[in-house]
Amino acid sequence: MLGFESSCDETGVALVEVSGDAPPRLLAQALHSQIAMHQAYGGVVPELASRDHVRRVLPLTREVLGQAGLSLQDVDLIAYTQGPGLAGALLVGAGVAVSLSAALDVPALPIHHLEGHLLSPFLSADPPEFPFVALLVSGGHTQLMRVEGVGRYDILGETIDDAAGEAFDKSAKLLGLPYPGGPHLARLAAFGNPQAFELPRPLLHSGKPDFSFAGLKTAVLTQVKKIGDSPCEQTRADLAASTQAAIVEVLVKKSLLALKTTGMKRLVVAGGVGANALLREQLNAACARRGVRVHYPELQLCTDNGAMIAMAAALRVQRGMARPRDDGGFEVRPR
Ligand code: KG4
Ligand code: ZN
Repeated sequence: MLGFESSCDETGVALVEVSGDAPPRLLAQALHSQIAMHQAYGGVVPELASRDHVRRVLPLTREVLGQAGLSLQDVDLIAYTQGPGLAGALLVGAGVAVSLSAALDVPALPIHHLEGHLLSPFLSADPPEFPFVALLVSGGHTQLMRVEGVGRYDILGETIDDAAGEAFDKSAKLLGLPYPGGPHLARLAAFGNPQAFELPRPLLHSGKPDFSFAGLKTAVLTQVKKIGDSPCEQTRADLAASTQAAIVEVLVKKSLLALKTTGMKRLVVAGGVGANALLREQLNAACARRGVRVHYPELQLCTDNGAMIAMAAALRVQRGMARPRDDGGFEVRPR
């Protein structure tokens, strides 16, 4: 199975092999990140993103086929990200996928980007077993889910405003860090004191697994104004550490709440923010105390990639959940 991801600023292509009921196997993957291209603008420029996906998608496809020693004729199914994401960017992956499927006369399978993230831990050597609680933390989404099986997802709670990744990115921007700010903020925070600044933890005690991060961004802005135009490096690090601590504390508390209310003993963390070292450290510690096992995707598979899309397709196909090809064209779902 060939999978395409092009929802935002990463072009990802991957090949996954399915045989019988055995766990699907990743054969090859290739990724091109547009981060350097968008950095000058402080965020993703949709038109540039689409054009770059167009430039990259076929060379990356050749690359994965080459890595696996296969040709297009060996491909039995083509999966692509249908949404959510940038409409123009999604259309590139979807257009290529559906065209190839028509040319090769194999099915094309649209995949929800968040399902890709959610199932990405199945690409690891030690995949989780169902059921589990999932914490999905990306640039656009922050959700806690009860996951009974492939395609059986109940949202327990989600953010009412900004996503966790957005909170990282917007705070990082206020601190003058490059886009995307999450990893940069985390690096700066490593030298800071997380108690130096008092920042809000919105909805921490709401008793529900919901989130709100917009107020945190405003509080960071207030502190940035207070420390002035040329704060010393230590002060910036302290503010970064305090910001990270606030976001992570909320994510950990709410994950524990979801585990408690569902009675589940397994947690899967997925999405870009799942790469955050402090989040992993604190979740590991809190879950170990409660006898809960935590699963993460491999670090490089936390952010967008083609492998998670091909894997989600493979898991669906194995369960007879692949929708037959629709010859009447295709659509993307940005929202
Ligand atoms: O899942 P993803 O690649 O794209 C979306 O589907 O949104 O997530 C990207 C988000 C960005 O907000 C980025 O800053 C954040 O994940 N991120 C991190 C880290 N690595 C990526 N946030 C905090 N710490 C990190 N180490
Ligand atoms: Zn994503």
